[in-house]
Amino acid sequence: VDVPVEEKDLVIIGGGVAGYVAAIKAGQEGLKVACIEKRGTLGGTCLNVGCIPSKSLLNNSHLYHQILHDSKHRGIEVGDVKLNLAQLMKAKEQSVSGLTKGVEFLLKKNGVEYIKGTGTFADEHTVNVKLNDGGETAVKGKNILIATGSEVTPFPGLEIDEKRVISSTGAIALEKVPEKMLVIGGGIIGLEMASVWSRLGAEVTVIEFLEQIGGPGMDLEVAKSIQKILKKQGINFKTGTKVVSGDKTGEIVKLEVDSAKGGKPETLEGDVVLVAIGRRPYTEGLGLENIGLEKDERGRVIIDSEYRTQIPHIRCVGDVTFGPMLAHKAEEEAVAAIEYIKKGHGHVNYGCIPSVMYTFPEVAWVGQSEQELKKAGIPYRVGTFPFSANSRAKTNLDTEGMVKMIADPETDRILGVHIIGPNAGEMIAEGTLALEYGASSEDIARTCHAHPTLAEAFKEAAMATYSKAIHF
Ligand code: FAD
Ligand code: NAI
Repeated sequence: VDVPVEEKDLVIIGGGVAGYVAAIKAGQEGLKVACIEKRGTLGGTCLNVGCIPSKSLLNNSHLYHQILHDSKHRGIEVGDVKLNLAQLMKAKEQSVSGLTKGVEFLLKKNGVEYIKGTGTFADEHTVNVKLNDGGETAVKGKNILIATGSEVTPFPGLEIDEKRVISSTGAIALEKVPEKMLVIGGGIIGLEMASVWSRLGAEVTVIEFLEQIGGPGMDLEVAKSIQKILKKQGINFKTGTKVVSGDKTGEIVKLEVDSAKGGKPETLEGDVVLVAIGRRPYTEGLGLENIGLEKDERGRVIIDSEYRTQIPHIRCVGDVTFGPMLAHKAEEEAVAAIEYIKKGHGHVNYGCIPSVMYTFPEVAWVGQSEQELKKAGIPYRVGTFPFSANSRAKTNLDTEGMVKMIADPETDRILGVHIIGPNAGEMIAEGTLALEYGASSEDIARTCHAHPTLAEAFKEAAMATYSKAIHF
């Protein structure tokens, strides 16, 4: 490929959250930027097949379920309630396309050249691009940023066809509600998608290897509590159970499961099986081998604390490298990486990245869990406040869940916040801010919170941590 005339200050490979945020930030900083994305639309996993479409389905399936099962006692009597799945999917597509187009506009606004194609390293400064519309080009960069994201981890021996054996991508696009759905993995994807399809009428069973659902990081007490709540909503759980193998040769998909502790094997059947056992870094076709860049044993591109690979002008952020696979983490890293390039310093506080599971009620947390503190031998004090004692939750008739705060017993500094409750995902922002600023539980307890709001439960949990709650 002929090397083009123009050299960019920065070439970004991947236009997901990590890549497009870096592109905008770099444009704002006055850098000459090209962003290469092969999908055909910007926004990556998050906007196209992840965060955004899943939240659209979660929101609307919740409304449907609520109208069906939770409206009469509120004084709302409805007639015939029908599901129009095609329209539900259309609403989802609308939110996706609105946002991906918005990102394209932002790149243009910030002077970023958006190249639609697959990027492959030719050498340390040159990326060849196989254009989506045919043909090839190449771009040269003083700096290069790898932001190629992640893909679903396949289940060995059970090929994903996105119809009967699906990943999250198939799970946000089913054309009909399955009768029986099996979910391999009770992590965040498994539980969010189990919620969607169970609300829409499927009989869902989640099979989780560990004794605890929720994936890594969720506080054990919280995980137990949300499992009970989801079970009441109709989702079946098989925890401490390992899926050993799968068979989709017949009309029904079969899974062989085993007790994780080694018990009696069992065969489970479903018309659809969702594989949700995690995601893995994606570097296929990137040509890392052409420039000798190394990955670790889990396929992650190796970087230092300034996001530099072994070749210092090539940096890497987002799902394809270390840390939690979360959109907001990718976004923070993207900004920090550009700041390193432009100013020589940047910052992400990895101890302060919130997690949210968008079930109903939502589960959200930031900082450390009780089991993590116990394991590390760090002393702590816990204060909790249930939503059943919160006036707004009571008026909303949504009283399940609680706020749990963990603080240092000596300094009272907040170490972790864990919430199950309606809008927990919004409320965790307050916990994240508190943690980021090194607040004590007393700081929060002495901060006036508006009444009646769910956030008062947050204040009261802080009161319970440092002294006593008023309303419980
Ligand atoms: P990606 O978003 O994966 O973007 C990488 C992009 O690079 C892709 O578009 C890909 O096409 C492109 N690419 C790869 N290789 C090349 C190449 N060689 N040339 C050109 N382009 C290339 N996170 C949250 O924080 N909140 C959520 O609610 C949430 N929900 C999720 C729901 C689901 C179902 C899934 C699957 C994920 C969810 N996530 C969520 C995780 C979130 O989507 C990721 O953390 C985020 O997308 C990571 O951003 P990224 O830019 O690193 O990677
Ligand atoms: P995960 O790592 O959260 O959960 C996978 C679960 O599968 C684990 O609990 C694991 O023990 C279990 N498992 C693995 N092998 C198994 C087997 N053979 N049998 C039974 N269980 C098995 O991964 P998940 O849910 O696929 O999500 C991937 C990533 O996507 C997460 O890391 C998360 O960061 C991100 N994501 C974030 C969301 C959010 O922020 N709301 C929503 C969806 C995804």
